Amino acid sequence: MEQTPLVASILNATMLLVTLALIQEAEATAKIGVNYGTVASNLPPPSKVAKFLSKSTTINRVRIFDANPEILHAFANTGIEVTITVPNDQIPQITNLTFAQQWVKTNVQPFLPATKLIRILVGNEVLSTANKLLISNLVPAMQTLHVALVTASLDNNVKVSTPHSLGVLSNSSPPSTAKFRQGYDTHVIKPMLSFLKASNAPFMVNPYPFFGTSVSNLDYALFRSDSGVVFDDNTKLRYTNMLDAQLDAVYSALKLLGFEDVEIVIAETGWPSLGDPAQFGVDPKTASEYNGNLIRHVNSGIGTPLMPNRTFDTYIFALFDENLKPGPTYERNFGLFWPNMTLVYDLPIMKNSVALVANRHFYKAFLSIIIVFNFISTWL
Ligand SMILES: *[C@@H]1O[C@H](CO)[C@@H](O)[C@H](O)[C@H]1NC(C)=O
Ligand SMILES: *[C@@H]1O[C@H](CO)[C@@H](O)[C@H](O)[C@H]1NC(C)=O
Ligand SMILES: *[C@@H]1O[C@H](CO)[C@@H](O)[C@H](O)[C@H]1NC(C)=O
Repeated sequence: MEQTPLVASILNATMLLVTLALIQEAEATAKIGVNYGTVASNLPPPSKVAKFLSKSTTINRVRIFDANPEILHAFANTGIEVTITVPNDQIPQITNLTFAQQWVKTNVQPFLPATKLIRILVGNEVLSTANKLLISNLVPAMQTLHVALVTASLDNNVKVSTPHSLGVLSNSSPPSTAKFRQGYDTHVIKPMLSFLKASNAPFMVNPYPFFGTSVSNLDYALFRSDSGVVFDDNTKLRYTNMLDAQLDAVYSALKLLGFEDVEIVIAETGWPSLGDPAQFGVDPKTASEYNGNLIRHVNSGIGTPLMPNRTFDTYIFALFDENLKPGPTYERNFGLFWPNMTLVYDLPIMKNSVALVANRHFYKAFLSIIIVFNFISTWL
């Protein structure tokens, strides 16, 4: 192949620019959040964790289960967005505005703006606790905390929400028929949604295909199949993975109450890498497949059948294994990283592996350019 030097250098420069643009796009799509749980005796210091996440990974959001000042300090000037939590047992007190204002003064204001604190979660899966005192105080606590943020002029930057388990739905299959549990729907969820909508905060859910998996539907849970496994007769939509079905169930339940325009955030999802002997589908390879496909899927812009073209702010559970958690073995083994900051299994979240998380468009565009380039080259 013969090229005039000018044409060749123009082509090369164009190739370089397009490639750089594509790599940048790939990097932009790779963003993901993690839950930084600390019920463990062997974790590295927060300063080390924060430095590692910002320097070496594409993780750009963390959520913690309290408001640990050491962790909040550690994430200062990292650019990583941080979500903190009011523990469940403080919910009744937070309905007291003076207390809420003091909480904001102690746990929020000292860290702004160096630490990019974006959200406060009031409790965790409060409706699943069946604790009447906590449940009845949940929405008032959220509202009061928001007022405390307003009085500190922080409400534009810091939003108040609360994460729910999928147990808040009484029915979720097929997705179009989902609704919130009777009793909670009008007394708790509806006022909560009014609050979230008015304050421009998201509805947060913890969907875990892991807990809905059996031998027969592992492919569906792991985003493996592409033929469609669940058919929703009402909408004539086909579901190729369980997470989409779970998200669309949430969407349908929101829509039934008239709040389908409230943003949905995935506050937790994940897959353990170790379980009790002979526990089905629990190993590093399966965890790698779920979390890797999850990252690609939520960033792909494909959305779900009922929410096409949407991306979902997603927080994987969890950053580390937590060796002090009670319960079955898998509860202690959801971690992505060992305490020495190496990956427990392969995952497209390291900065040097961004190409791996690029979506299909990336490969298609890249391939087309190479083909066109070769085609032009042979004709010159
Ligand atoms: C509200 O909180 C403040 C500050 O903690 C406390 O001094 C006050 O007694 C509380 N009020 C009520 C009614 O509990
Ligand atoms: C989703 O994106 C596709 C392709 O860009 C477009 O044709 C379609 O109208 C979009 N749908 C919605 C609901 O935005
Ligand atoms: C990190 O820790 C894991 C688990 O203990 C171990 O298997 C691995 O060899 C360690 N890697 C390095 C580089 O120390």
